[in-house]
Amino acid sequence: MPYCQLVGATLLTNQLAMKTRNLFGWLTLGLFLVTSCGEETTQKETPQQEAQVQEPVSDTAYVVIQGNDRMMYDTKHITVHQGQIVVLTLKHVGKASKDVMGHNFVLLDNGITISEFGQLAAAAAATDYIPEEARDKVIAHTKMIGGGEEDVIIFQAPPKGLYDFLCSFPGHYSMMKGEFHVK
Ligand code: CO
Repeated sequence: MPYCQLVGATLLTNQLAMKTRNLFGWLTLGLFLVTSCGEETTQKETPQQEAQVQEPVSDTAYVVIQGNDRMMYDTKHITVHQGQIVVLTLKHVGKASKDVMGHNFVLLDNGITISEFGQLAAAAAATDYIPEEARDKVIAHTKMIGGGEEDVIIFQAPPKGLYDFLCSFPGHYSMMKGEFHVK
């Protein structure tokens, strides 16, 4: 834009000095400025557009997350893209039974915290630790599994944003939790 402003200032000064303020003069000045500015804008935008070209996003995101006998997931951050179909596999790589060291993967919608959900879930053994009163806050969840088991779920990624996930087995959410980022 400095070039554009320089041209504009120079022409404006000349125009005033000449004191020929006829309509044709102003139209010519205007046309010249539009042309100059337009060309400069085009030249500047081209490289930016090229830089923004990204790799095409796959339709499907495959996610594998592991839980172990030490009450831990192997990841605290999962990233997918909006609109993707998420194929998520939860693997329990430990040996403990699901009554002792059960793990699931619960993806929460916004509007409930991990601790709020975890506390409700602790009293929901009858429904596999998914509390009925907060089921509308669950985007997706696996079943509860024990050592050596795995479960696969398929769901559509929610809108762009940050979401929480947790294991809703009683007491596990303090350690087994993470961020699910939809880009
Ligand atoms: Co667990």
